[in-house]
Amino acid sequence: MNTTDQKNNIDKQNLPQHVAIIMDGNGRWAKQRGNKRIFGHKNGVQSVRSVVEAAGEIGIKYLTLYAFSTENWKRPKLEVNALMSLFISAVKNETKNLMKNNVRMKAIGNLTNLPSNVQNNLNEIINITKNNTGLTLILALSYSSRQEIKDTIINISKEVIDNKISIDDINENLVSSRLQTSEFPDPELLIRTSGEFRISNFLLWQISYSELYFTDILWPDFTKEHFFKAIYNYQQRERRFGKITEQTKSNKT
Ligand code: IPE
Ligand code: IPE
Ligand code: MG
Repeated sequence: MNTTDQKNNIDKQNLPQHVAIIMDGNGRWAKQRGNKRIFGHKNGVQSVRSVVEAAGEIGIKYLTLYAFSTENWKRPKLEVNALMSLFISAVKNETKNLMKNNVRMKAIGNLTNLPSNVQNNLNEIINITKNNTGLTLILALSYSSRQEIKDTIINISKEVIDNKISIDDINENLVSSRLQTSEFPDPELLIRTSGEFRISNFLLWQISYSELYFTDILWPDFTKEHFFKAIYNYQQRERRFGKITEQTKSNKT
């Protein structure tokens, strides 16, 4: 099936609003070609471009991309530095494209841990694209879900201590509203590439009912076609949310 067929298969009435992707496999992709890991990261930028375009084309509203985890700081300094430079050049080179495609850029994670030039470039593109009304592209950079949850617990505790809220006000909605993702709906679909079956500290609260899609494709090989295939696969699933099939079909509560 070609990309157009794959795209035409998608039911526009049943799109996930929010898709999150763990972009994995750059290092192995480079190694297979006898190259350094950073070569894989560089080639992964093209896949980001494709997926952003594909998501926009079919009308996905939110796309979160896991680009760098807090744990990734433990990688060799050379790789970390190369990744930081790559973030800067990618952000600079993609600004025009994002504007053309009406994409609004956002970021989550421990952004203050990023080098200041990365922070500056990121803030700049977030600012430039802030009035765009198409796809919202959320980059997870220096992101840790457990840290996000821990910070949220601290912030909510402070609100209680300061008498801004009472313990009884704490419910699931309030917790969601205090996370870094507060302005985005939870992802209905989470994709991970490269044949790894784990979450690696990504959006733990937010994916409690997400559909998970794993593919062996390494990130630099991931194309629009693969993205459309994942959306189609999602649409074949029955999301029961604890109920039974008969209830979900008739929409009875
Ligand atoms: C994902 O690819 C990109 C980042 C984590 C920054 P990897 O670099 O993890 O590639 P593999 O998993 O080693 O192949
Ligand atoms: C997860 O990939 C983080 C990103 C894709 C940015 P990793 O390659 O770092 O995950 P682990 O360490 O293999 O679980
Ligand atoms: Mg990896």
